[in-house]
Amino acid sequence: MTITVCVFDAYGTLFDVAAAAREAAAEPGREALAKVWPTLASNWRRKQLEYSWIRALSDNHTDFWAVTKDGLDWSLESAGLAGDTELRERLLALYWNLSAFPEVPEMLETLQKGGISTAILSNGSPHMLDGAVHSAGLGDLLDGVLSVESVGIFKPAPQVYDLVIQRFGVAKEHVLFVSSNGWDAAAAAAYGFKTAWVNRNGDPVDRLPGQPDHVLTELSGIPGLAGLK
Ligand code: LAC
Repeated sequence: MTITVCVFDAYGTLFDVAAAAREAAAEPGREALAKVWPTLASNWRRKQLEYSWIRALSDNHTDFWAVTKDGLDWSLESAGLAGDTELRERLLALYWNLSAFPEVPEMLETLQKGGISTAILSNGSPHMLDGAVHSAGLGDLLDGVLSVESVGIFKPAPQVYDLVIQRFGVAKEHVLFVSSNGWDAAAAAAYGFKTAWVNRNGDPVDRLPGQPDHVLTELSGIPGLAGLK
């Protein structure tokens, strides 16, 4: 089946969400963070996602920047760092300008040169996504940046995946959806997209409806899965 559109999750897939805590921990005067940053980064991500799902289930939407801040506050308190307001501001500033994984620009360029449309579909608010896309220099390499804010509910609500069909006007099976989140890849597969799960950490496959068609350890194999080279 021909793939004509390649759609990427943003946080954790194109952008390295651990980079904010890792980079802050390497700065002078951050000894307390340096001791705990991997746990803080993973708690931050876990709480951010938990809050997104609970808000979707309880019909209590707010944008992804709000759940990102709430997840950070929980994680700072858990690490005994709640009083460090300068650190909080620094981590949030770094999150706004996350680095892309190194293989991302060339991978997107190969897709575009091969005639495949590229897009982000993310929980991120339009503002957050704009910040991340531009700081990573990906603006010209994406044909669309789609945010859940236009439907007001987080992934994995099916109306989020509908945004791809509305934007590109293609049948589901012509879309390759790529995510590092096992639950997002599972939901996209159940929705009807072709899917690739980027499993950077060697995690087990999620026990959910929908299984990824492909499992990769990083993104450089995506053009091949989309039928190029
Ligand atoms: C996103 C989160 C789920 O970008 O990583 O949608």
